[in-house]
Amino acid sequence: MDKKFKRTTVTSALPYANGPVHIGHLAGVYVPADIYVRYLRLKGEEVVFIGGSDEHGVPVTIRAKKEGCTPQDVVDRYHKIIKDSFQEFGISFDVYSRTTSATHHKLASDFFRTLYDKGEFIEKESEQYYDEEAKQFLADRYIVGECPRCHAQGAYGDQCEKCGSALSPEELINPVSKLSGAKPVMRKTKHWYLPLDKHEGWLRKWILDDHKEWRTNVYGQCKSWLDNGLQPRAVSRDLDWGIPVPVEGAEGKVLYVWFDAPIGYISNTKELCDNNPDKFGNWEKWWKDPETRLVHFIGKDNIVFHCIVFPSMLKAEGSYILPDNVPSNEFLNLEGDKISTSRNWAVWLNEYLVDFPGKQDTLRYVLTANAPETKDNDFTWKDFQARNNNELVAIYGNFVNRALVLTQKYFEGKVPELKGLTDYDKATLQEFADVKEKLEQLLDNFKFRDAQKEAMNLARIGNKYLAETEPWKLSKTDMDRTSSILHIGLQIAANLAIAFEPFLPFSSEKLRKMLNMNSFDWNQLGKIDLLQTGAQLGKAELLFEKIEDEAIDAQMKRLENIKKENEANNWQPEPIEGQSTIDDFAKLDIRVGTILECQKVPKSDKLLQFKIDDGLGGRTILSGIAKSYPDPQELVGLQVLFVANFPTRKMMGLESQGMIMSAVDKDGKLVVTSVSKKVANGSRVG
Ligand code: 2FM
Ligand code: ZN
Repeated sequence: MDKKFKRTTVTSALPYANGPVHIGHLAGVYVPADIYVRYLRLKGEEVVFIGGSDEHGVPVTIRAKKEGCTPQDVVDRYHKIIKDSFQEFGISFDVYSRTTSATHHKLASDFFRTLYDKGEFIEKESEQYYDEEAKQFLADRYIVGECPRCHAQGAYGDQCEKCGSALSPEELINPVSKLSGAKPVMRKTKHWYLPLDKHEGWLRKWILDDHKEWRTNVYGQCKSWLDNGLQPRAVSRDLDWGIPVPVEGAEGKVLYVWFDAPIGYISNTKELCDNNPDKFGNWEKWWKDPETRLVHFIGKDNIVFHCIVFPSMLKAEGSYILPDNVPSNEFLNLEGDKISTSRNWAVWLNEYLVDFPGKQDTLRYVLTANAPETKDNDFTWKDFQARNNNELVAIYGNFVNRALVLTQKYFEGKVPELKGLTDYDKATLQEFADVKEKLEQLLDNFKFRDAQKEAMNLARIGNKYLAETEPWKLSKTDMDRTSSILHIGLQIAANLAIAFEPFLPFSSEKLRKMLNMNSFDWNQLGKIDLLQTGAQLGKAELLFEKIEDEAIDAQMKRLENIKKENEANNWQPEPIEGQSTIDDFAKLDIRVGTILECQKVPKSDKLLQFKIDDGLGGRTILSGIAKSYPDPQELVGLQVLFVANFPTRKMMGLESQGMIMSAVDKDGKLVVTSVSKKVANGSRVG
């Protein structure tokens, strides 16, 4: 760590407690943060890892309304689900609390009041939409209407989900309140604003001059905000869910969720320290001591809040440190499409654990291998399977297993003696002599993806070493050499347990037990005396299991079904195009007829053959609707509409005299059209 710092406060974005968490959250924020913290802890550094749920905000209230429960019910439910998921995946928070806690309400409220008393806010009246029936001001998400850009219906006051445009409520055409369905009216309301424009000067210097080392995506986004000029931002809202604005005359107003949420990092640290003073000391040292290094792990949609808004709040308060780095990731996509909660296009952590019990490390590994560190990246199930089978199982697991099983077999499970080094041994040891420096260089710079590659490279070295020295063959002729090879192999395995601990904590723990190592220490990395000759090893177990095709196929099938459902839900009738005249219509002779017989056409998966009573002696019609009617008998007896004056056509060697009229449903299924009352066969339709 940089000499000027003594300790590190690591925060990870507080997820909204209005739904479970998915692989995008894990890849973007929590796995990288956890890798970093585990690494610091292994090095023996002083660190706290702060997490928690973000429980205020409009989406919580919307969900509560939809489900007919209270906002508190919603956040209670999801806070627990999210907290459990993180714990199951080994995200090693020192504290995981929530923004509805009493500690947080008080701290956030006091924070606001301090800024208010110091005159750090401006007060402004503005006109906002108000619902006269529901008697309340409407948050942007509570107003829907026609999108002024793409003219889709149902666009929200802050965004059109159809075309993706960011909107403000006044732009919507024919706005309607989601609460009552009423047409909202404009009404005056007072709010408090943080004048970001006043902070622009120091922010420019602090970020653009003093933090050139920030990731280019973070630096670039900040620069673009700063170059566009900052505007005052409202820090209060007219809403009844949140922390009341602690100022007289502010009834019915709460702190804006983005004002209180980052303060949650501080409140949760306070809660941790108040409960464990011996271990963590006073909370203020983690937030106010210039020798503390503050690092925020976030996703890219949170950059402006963590690099511009929250630092301005901290600066305005005056006694806090500012973040030293804000390693933000880009987004993770799923099978080529943007992860979306509303479209259920995600792999939910709680569901993953049901489908792949005990395979937390596999997901951690794949998410880090594909981490969206510099650009958006894609998660695919095929890649997940390949990385598990070809890397974790075939390289890391295989190597460790061989070293342990052969030691059990030839040396009763005791670390065999090193009886000399060949040139090849020396070259192998040389290959990983600098693994510690390499890993540190990468981890210190938040390059987790490359760091994990480096750890896997160490497993590759071990695997290759055993494959080339073949101790299982040598054991027949040269036991001394076998002893040395396995000694070296086991020392490499011990190195792997340490090197992988930040990335794959469950497997490292398993390996640690198998090798009977008492403790881990980062400083041992790269050494070859981690295990004592003669020490008894534990039982050899498989570190990773192969993932079979069936498991992957089931996941792909699930996604396919979701895609189909979404397509059906998003269906809209085709627009009417072109014009025709009554004369055009009159050219078609459409009649009613009864289906007498109906059967599949042999060797065709599309065609059905119909015998129709058309009142004129009968006719045969072929129709390509077999896929929509797996049991053609259900159509027999139905009176349907058909075009009677098409010329006869031949298909699959059969004649067709006309066309049965069908509607194409939203899922692509064809449904034959019928009449609502019995009419004489041969009746004309017009
Ligand atoms: O984007 C989100 O999910 C927010 N709930 C993140 C908040 S981070 C912090 F400020 F608490
Ligand atoms: Zn639109």
